[in-house]
Amino acid sequence: MGGGRIIGWGTALPEKVLTNDDLSVMMDTNDEWITERTGIKRRHIGGSTASLSVESARRAISMAGVDPASIDGLVLSTTTPDRTVPATSAAVQHALGLRCGAFDVNAACSGFVYAYVVAHGLLAIGAKRLLVIGTDTLSRVTDWGDRGTAILFADGSGACIVDGVPDAGQLLGWDLDADGSLEHLLYAEVGGYIHMDGKEVFRRAVRIMVDSGRKSLAKAGLGVDDVTLCVPHQANVRIIDAACRQLGIPMDRTATVLHETGNTSSASIPLAWFDAAERGRLNNGDIVLLVGFGAGMTAASAVVEWRQP
Ligand code: COA
Repeated sequence: MGGGRIIGWGTALPEKVLTNDDLSVMMDTNDEWITERTGIKRRHIGGSTASLSVESARRAISMAGVDPASIDGLVLSTTTPDRTVPATSAAVQHALGLRCGAFDVNAACSGFVYAYVVAHGLLAIGAKRLLVIGTDTLSRVTDWGDRGTAILFADGSGACIVDGVPDAGQLLGWDLDADGSLEHLLYAEVGGYIHMDGKEVFRRAVRIMVDSGRKSLAKAGLGVDDVTLCVPHQANVRIIDAACRQLGIPMDRTATVLHETGNTSSASIPLAWFDAAERGRLNNGDIVLLVGFGAGMTAASAVVEWRQP
């Protein structure tokens, strides 16, 4: 059984930018409070889950330099599908001109890591080339009158092409987890807005990120000192800070883009990961720890050995 290797990536953010000052006109909040409590300065709003997915996927396909016809599976992570039926991956597949199996994965903000791990399962049973996308348009399920949630959520997309390789590949260890008894802490009914117990989500998030990150590292036979870069879910810089401190990973070995993006759910880890790669922060052989958490509550982490495409 072989593994997988990323041969190209792409990201997409809507053009429209909403700053903290813009929000302070819409509700009783201010830039200082949002910056101090979350680390977020601005976020991008707009587009559909399909349109953002197509944009990031086109960039990934172009960077990989592959024929779209050679892609034999599409896994789209999203918690904000454009329709209840069919899966948004169907529209994305059609727009990209792919002829392959396509399905959505919904594990909220842990979704991209879930999709990335699931893709490796498909490679292990014979798939050759997969397109993995993480996209969310949380602005469509955000109550723009609720200052407890509207300051956090936004839209974006990140995608990568993962090729099957005969060796063990890049994925050295992984952990997927969920605790459905905590569903009430963060949810949106079909057609409704997000409801959240912010304080409790914060508390649980730190604990489950640390727990999941440690499990993945143990499965990979590695320790925190081996981690070159930690790519955490971009929800709140204080959550990232607390989780990384407990894991023993300093902030200068952590990727953050949330000051620019807000919480983009499925897109947050690929946006931060590929931003770090584009800034030259990753070299061959570096160990990357992806670690996410989200509604459910879900958790997901993966230890990846970086190989420059
Ligand atoms: N602007 C200004 N003041 C605000 C505010 C806002 N947007 N939101 C809340 N406040 C006020 C509160 O009313 C409260 O005032 P009080 O002390 O007079 O009652 C004070 O600020 C503190 O509010 P609190 O809710 O205790 O803030 P917090 O430090 O817990 O931060 C969150 C709130 C939402 C930023 C934080 O709990 C959080 O990030 N939680 C995790 C959420 C998350 O990551 N969700 C996604 C998971 S994938």
